[in-house]
Amino acid sequence: MSRWTLIYDGADPAQAGVREALCTLGNGYFSTRGAPPESSPDGTHYPGTYVAGCYDRAMSTVDGRLVENEDLVNVPNWLPLTFRTGDGDWFEQPDPGFPQRMELDMRRGMLTRTFHVVNDGRTTRVTQRRLVSMDTPHLAALETTLVPEDWSGTIAIRSALDGRVSNSGVDRYRDLNGRHLHVLGTGSNAPGGAWLRCRTLTSGVEVVLASRTRIVQGPAPSSSETLSHEDWVATDLTLDLRIGEQTTVEKTVALYSSRDHAVGNVLDAACGALPEAGGFDELLSRHTTAWRHLWRSCSLNVGSEKEQRALNLHLFHLLQTLSPHTSDLDVGVPARGLHGEAYRGHVFWDELFVLPFLNLRFPETARALLRYRWRRLPQARAAARAVGLKGALFPWQSGSDGREETQRTHLNPRSGRWLPDNSHLQRHVGLAIAYNVWQHYQATDDLAFLSEFGAELLLEIARAFADMAIYDRGLDRYVIRGVMGPDEYHDGYPDREEPGLDDNAYTNVMAVWVLLRALDILRKLPGPLQRDLQESLDLKAEEIERFETITRKMHIPFHEGVISQFAGYEELEELDWEAYRGIRRLDRYLEAEGDSCNRYRASKQADVLMLFFLLPAEEFADILRGLGYAYDPELIPRTVDYYLARTSHGSTLSSVVSIFHPASRS
Ligand code: BGC
Repeated sequence: MSRWTLIYDGADPAQAGVREALCTLGNGYFSTRGAPPESSPDGTHYPGTYVAGCYDRAMSTVDGRLVENEDLVNVPNWLPLTFRTGDGDWFEQPDPGFPQRMELDMRRGMLTRTFHVVNDGRTTRVTQRRLVSMDTPHLAALETTLVPEDWSGTIAIRSALDGRVSNSGVDRYRDLNGRHLHVLGTGSNAPGGAWLRCRTLTSGVEVVLASRTRIVQGPAPSSSETLSHEDWVATDLTLDLRIGEQTTVEKTVALYSSRDHAVGNVLDAACGALPEAGGFDELLSRHTTAWRHLWRSCSLNVGSEKEQRALNLHLFHLLQTLSPHTSDLDVGVPARGLHGEAYRGHVFWDELFVLPFLNLRFPETARALLRYRWRRLPQARAAARAVGLKGALFPWQSGSDGREETQRTHLNPRSGRWLPDNSHLQRHVGLAIAYNVWQHYQATDDLAFLSEFGAELLLEIARAFADMAIYDRGLDRYVIRGVMGPDEYHDGYPDREEPGLDDNAYTNVMAVWVLLRALDILRKLPGPLQRDLQESLDLKAEEIERFETITRKMHIPFHEGVISQFAGYEELEELDWEAYRGIRRLDRYLEAEGDSCNRYRASKQADVLMLFFLLPAEEFADILRGLGYAYDPELIPRTVDYYLARTSHGSTLSSVVSIFHPASRS
C-alpha cells in the first residue's frame, strides 16, 4: 500500500460495511458505496447511492407511536452488472467469503476490483474499474474486463438500473419506514441504452438514471436488448468469447434530479448527457485532472507513509462529500458524508471540524455551507420564538428545510429499548455556526460576506443566547439552564425529572465569545450598513448593552481547581473505569444494566475540552478575566488531564479534539 492507495485483499465479511464505506466514490454532488456491482443488500453488502441534499420524509409506527423521519434518500442503484456463461446462473451475491482484491486509488479517485468467477465449471478473470466523475458531476462509469481462463463460448452480460431500493442500510433504524421512492417508468432510448425515472414519495424530487452499456474491446454482441420492468431495467448483451482473449464492457451512467440547475426535463438531461460523455478512458482522464487540481490545493504532507495515507484518506472522503461542485448546491455537511445512512444524512454541528480546512482552500464551498444555514434562518427564528426567545435557534439535526429533525426517542441496540432522546437540547449547534461565520470572515477578510448574510446569521444566533441567559440574583451572574453540552452522555441530572443541564461551561463560554464577536461585527460594519441591519433586525441599543453585560457576568462553574462540565458536576460519582475499559458507548452499556451515565463523571466526548480546541489559550484567558474570574495558566492543563481521564471517546469527534492535547500523546 502506498500513501495513495487503500488495498483490501481477500475477504473479511465482518468488515464489509467499513470497506464499502471507505471505498465509496463521490464528487460532492452524488456518491456510491464501494459495494460489488452484482450485490444487493444482504446484511454484508449495501450498494447505496446518495445525492447531496435529496431528502424525503416518511412516517413509521415505533413502540405504538407514530414518528416521522427524514432521510437522505438511497436512490436507484446504477451499479448492477453481471454475467453468466453457458447454462450457469447469473453471477450474483457472491458468498461473504468470496475472495477479491479492491484497490482504492485516492489520487485519481478510482476503485479497481479483481477476482475470478467459476461459473458452470468455467473460470473467468474479471477486472473492474469504477469512477464517479469529479469533472462532470452527473456522470459515473464502470468498466468490466473479462478474460475466459479455461473456456471458449457464449456469455450473457446484464447491465441494469435498479429502482427496487429502500433506506435499509442501518440496523438500528430497521423499525423505521425506509421507503422513499416511486418508480415512474423505465425504458430505452438508444441501442445499449436504458433509463429509470423515479420520484421521492413526499418531497417530490424527480431522479433519473440513464445508462449506456457497450463492448469497447472484444467481439461484437450477437444480440442486444433492453428489458423494461416496472421498477428496474436491464440491457442484456450476448457474445462469444475465446479462451485467453480480453473483452471489455463499459457502462456509463448519468444521474440528474429536479433539484439541478439548468435542467428543463430531467429525463432529457440524463439521456442527453451520455452521447457527450466519451469512453471510460476519456472520462478517467478528465476526472484525474479534476482530482489533480483538488490535491494541488489541499495536499498536506506529514511524516510516515502510514500517517500520510490516513490523512489522504480523510481528505479524500472530505472532498468527495464537499467539493467545489457542492458550492452550487443548497446543502449542509452531513455527519456521515454521502457514504451511508447512519444519522440519516442529517446535518449536526460537525461542520465546525471541516470548515476551517475549507475556508482556506475552497472558500466558495465553505460559504455555500454557511449559506445553507442562512437560508434556514426563518425556521431557526420560528424555533426561537416557539420557546420564547429572540433571534435564531438552529436545530441539533437539520435536513431539507431546517426544522428540527432530531428524533424524540432512540433505540439502544444493546437493551432493545426505545428511550427518550433529549439531544435537541444541544443548543450549542448555533454557537458552532456563529464560530464558523467569524472564522470564514477571518480567513477571507471579506466584508461583503458579512454584509450579505454573515453578520445577520451571527447576530441572530447571539441574540438567542443572550436571551437564553437569565440573571441569577444569588450568584449575581447570568446562567443558561436546561441545555445539553456536546457530551451526549449527560442529558440531565440524576435526581431531576426534566431533562437538561445548567451552565454547561462550553455553552456559556462560547456564548460569551459569540456575543463578543457580535459586538465586533457591529463595530466593523460601515455605519449605514450597521444602521440598516439593526433596523431590519429591530436590534435596539438596550439589547446590545445586554450583550455587553453578559460578556462580563456569565457564570462559569468550577470544582477541584478545574472547569466543571456543568453546574453540579462535582456531585456525580466516579465511574469504575477499570470495569468498563475499552467500551466506547458506555451509555448503551449502562442503560442495558439499568444504570445511567447521568450519574457519573464520564463523558462520551470532548465537551469542556472543546474550548481549548476552538480558542487559543490567550483568548480563553481573556474571556475568563473579562468575566472577573482569576486565570491561572495551570487551569488548562489541569482541566485537560481531568477530562481526558474521564472520557470514553464514544464519538469519533472526541479523538480529533483530544489528539491535540499533549496529555493524550503520552
Ligand atoms: C456525536 C455528535 C455528532 C454526531 C454526528 C454523535 O455521536 O455525539 O457530537 O455531531 O454524532 O457526527
